Amino acid sequence: MRDRFGREIRSLRISITKRCNLNCFYCHNEGQFFDNNRELTPEEIEKIVRVSTKFGVRKIKITGGEPLIRKDIIKIIKRIKNIREIKEIALTTNGTLLKKYFKQLKIAGLDRINVSLDTLNKKKYKMITGGNIENVIEGLKEASKYFYPIKINFLAMKINIEELEDMLNFCKEIGAILQIIEFLLKDKLIKDKYYISLDNVEEKIKKRAKKISYRRKMHNRVRYILENDVEVEFVRPMDNSEFCMHCTRLRLTADGYLKPCLLRNDNLVDILTPLRNGEDLEKYFLECIKRREPYFKK
Ligand code: 5AD
Repeated sequence: MRDRFGREIRSLRISITKRCNLNCFYCHNEGQFFDNNRELTPEEIEKIVRVSTKFGVRKIKITGGEPLIRKDIIKIIKRIKNIREIKEIALTTNGTLLKKYFKQLKIAGLDRINVSLDTLNKKKYKMITGGNIENVIEGLKEASKYFYPIKINFLAMKINIEELEDMLNFCKEIGAILQIIEFLLKDKLIKDKYYISLDNVEEKIKKRAKKISYRRKMHNRVRYILENDVEVEFVRPMDNSEFCMHCTRLRLTADGYLKPCLLRNDNLVDILTPLRNGEDLEKYFLECIKRREPYFKK
């Protein structure tokens, strides 16, 4: 299945809750106005994923809020894993509850984990997230034996960029991939205080790389492999037509709307209401795919 612009649908990103147990100062806070009655049950999530496979979806990414604060997270993973067409399930988490869940997640069939970690310093972690870093580090160390390689999301900012070397060493220690993300924020004041460009950082990493691989399917993302075998990726802002052209992703919001585009909130398709009314869901997927258009055009 292709959209009007010839783009295939391959993956579905599902936000299973807007709730979070951290409070990162830079968060987009997608959960401000939220009706908890619209949080999807595991059964509802399974139904929607089953329908999505008819349109080409083969990969699922579970996000939040913080997905591991849902008590039924294991049920959700198991239900998705049971769907034959789904080839990969990944989860993005802040890692605070990883220690409690990693074994069950593995058994349930989760394939990959992304953990957000911007610092290794206890005080700084508290400052950035409001939470305790110990849980995250312990969780990461244990989980990394079961999920290999874990990917660490490191949001590069003025206040943590000097820790890059420590992060690389930590990744070496636990066998993780480091994903360095460019800071994005609309609020200009905060931006001036924290933003740093990744140009220099990437230049330095590039010089140290023994191998560089280009991943065309993944928005042309580059992956650098360092002398010590640690892998580093960069995630730059998505403000380019290249990104849109390669987009094969649909999204499902935590309150039950299909979202045709990461960068828009004005063209969502309510799928939960028809689902709860016992309607056929295919036409809502078709409508969502019909509404897909590149946000940045050539
Ligand atoms: N800019 C860039 N990335 C962000 N994330 C959250 N807020 C921002 C922001 N302001 C990313 C972080 C986090 C992931 C869940 O979302 O990398 O790890």
